[in-house]
Parts: sequence; structure tokens; C-alpha cells
Amino acid sequence: MRLPGVPLARPALLLLLPLLPLLAPLLGTGAPAELRVRVRLPDGQVTEESLQADSDADSISLELRKPDGTLVSFTADFKKDVKIFRALILGELEKGQSQFQALCFVTQLQHNEIIPSEAMAKLRQKNPRAVRQAEEVRGPEHLHMDVAVNFSQGALLSPHLHNVCAEAVDAIYTRQEDVRFWLEQGVDTSVFEALPKASEQAELPRCGQVGDRGKPCVCRYGLSLAWYPCMLKYCHSRDRPMPYKCGIRSCQKSYSFDFYVPQRQLCLWDEDPYPG
Ligand SMILES: *[C@@H]1O[C@H](CO)[C@@H](O)[C@H](O)[C@H]1NC(C)=O
Repeated sequence: MRLPGVPLARPALLLLLPLLPLLAPLLGTGAPAELRVRVRLPDGQVTEESLQADSDADSISLELRKPDGTLVSFTADFKKDVKIFRALILGELEKGQSQFQALCFVTQLQHNEIIPSEAMAKLRQKNPRAVRQAEEVRGPEHLHMDVAVNFSQGALLSPHLHNVCAEAVDAIYTRQEDVRFWLEQGVDTSVFEALPKASEQAELPRCGQVGDRGKPCVCRYGLSLAWYPCMLKYCHSRDRPMPYKCGIRSCQKSYSFDFYVPQRQLCLWDEDPYPG
């Protein structure tokens, strides 16, 4: 039986604190709020993750470095219903690769994927040294990126694209179904560029099976958001008539992206053949 006044959730490590009026002039000036947390990656290693929220721009960004040096970032643009994944992959110089390779994947931001920016901006942690592990592992998502985004037109889709994808000018991908959604929202068609059609792509070999470095193929890249606030938690209190926001639920989610590359050498990490 639930007793009135007894919190439902265990005391949360991360709390949503109301901004103190004293701090509001400092924090309410549009400067993004940043939270740095230590997180455990799916492979067990620990890394630092940075989460920034800008409630004026109504956006959240998350950044973490994988143990192999890859910098993964995720941007949620609530104003435009756009989310952007970016990976900066370090090249292996001894294999003749350039210093790093950047990839950008842009897709529709669904509601309830991540907490609102205004709540994220208020998130504080009691113990910054704690290593956090997501409470919920959300099912992995596999996306077929079959359309290219024209970088110079990218601001028409999201103002964040110019900063986030500046290194990935020739490697910004999205999907037909996302394009349909954004066109309905009034985004200009000039943002999107055709890639070899899905039917043709289906006939292209996976990069892992191509020996010739100059040949086109279908590349796969996987990344994981190790820890992010995916839902608000509500508590009950004797003193308040309504449940109130008192913390967050954290999630982890993996994504894999299939996309066309004109040359096998743009997908050198894809070494092994894989099914389906
Ligand atoms: C991207 O858009 C600009 C402006 O419309 C255009 O001049 C350019 O040719 C486009 N780039 C590609 C690769 O199609």
C-alpha cells in the first residue's frame, strides 16, 4: 500500500532543482547549462559525458568520447523536430587515413525521446564522482540513411547543422521518411539530395565485402548514447496537492546507420562481413 507523503522513487541522485531567484539573472541569460557526468559505456569502460541544455534555443546536446578516441555527439532540436548524430572518427595514420573522418546522421526527433530542454537545464547532480549507469536500456535502432543533406542549405532544416556538421560537409545523411515529414513542415526541397536509390543501394555490396578501395558500397556505423535523461520522474508529497517533478529516469540506446559511400576507403572500420 502506498502511504501518502512517501516518495515513490528512491532518493534520486540527480535532482531537478528550481532555480534560485538569486541565480536566475546569471543562468537565465541564454547561456547553456552544462552537466558533466561519468558514465559506464556498454563495454564496461568509464568515460565522461557532457550534457548541455539551452532552453532559449530549446535544444539539448550531449557529447562523449569513446575509448578508441571517437567523439560522439547528439543534438536534439525541439524547435525543428530534428536530431543530429555526429561521429568524429580518428583515422589510423599508419594505414594512410586522414586525421579524422566525420559523419552526420539527421533524423526526426520524436516526442518523449528525451526530457524537455527546460528540465535538462535544471538538472544538477549531488555526486559528480559517481559513475552512472542507465536505468533502462532501450532497444537498438537500425536506420537506412538513403538521402544526402546539402550542407550549405542545412540551416533551413536546423540552425544547429552548420556547427555540428561542419566537418562532415560531404557526409550528412537522412532518410526518405524524414524528408517527407520535413517537407510537410515546410522545409525547402533544396536541402535534400538524392543518393543512389534504395533499390540500387540494396544491390550494392556491404563495404565489409568489397576489396577494391575505390568502389562504392553500403557502409554501417554504430554508436551508443551511454546515458541520457529520457523521462521525468514524479514524486508525491503530503505538502503538495499534485505530483511534482523530482528527478529523471536515465536510458541508454544504441543506433546503427547504413549509408552509401562512393568509395570503400570512406568506410575502413567496416572490416567484417555481417548478416542482413
Ligand atoms: C547545394 O546547394 C547549393 C545552393 O542551392 C547549390 O549551389 C549546390 O550545388 C548544392 N550542392 C550540391 C552538391 O548539390
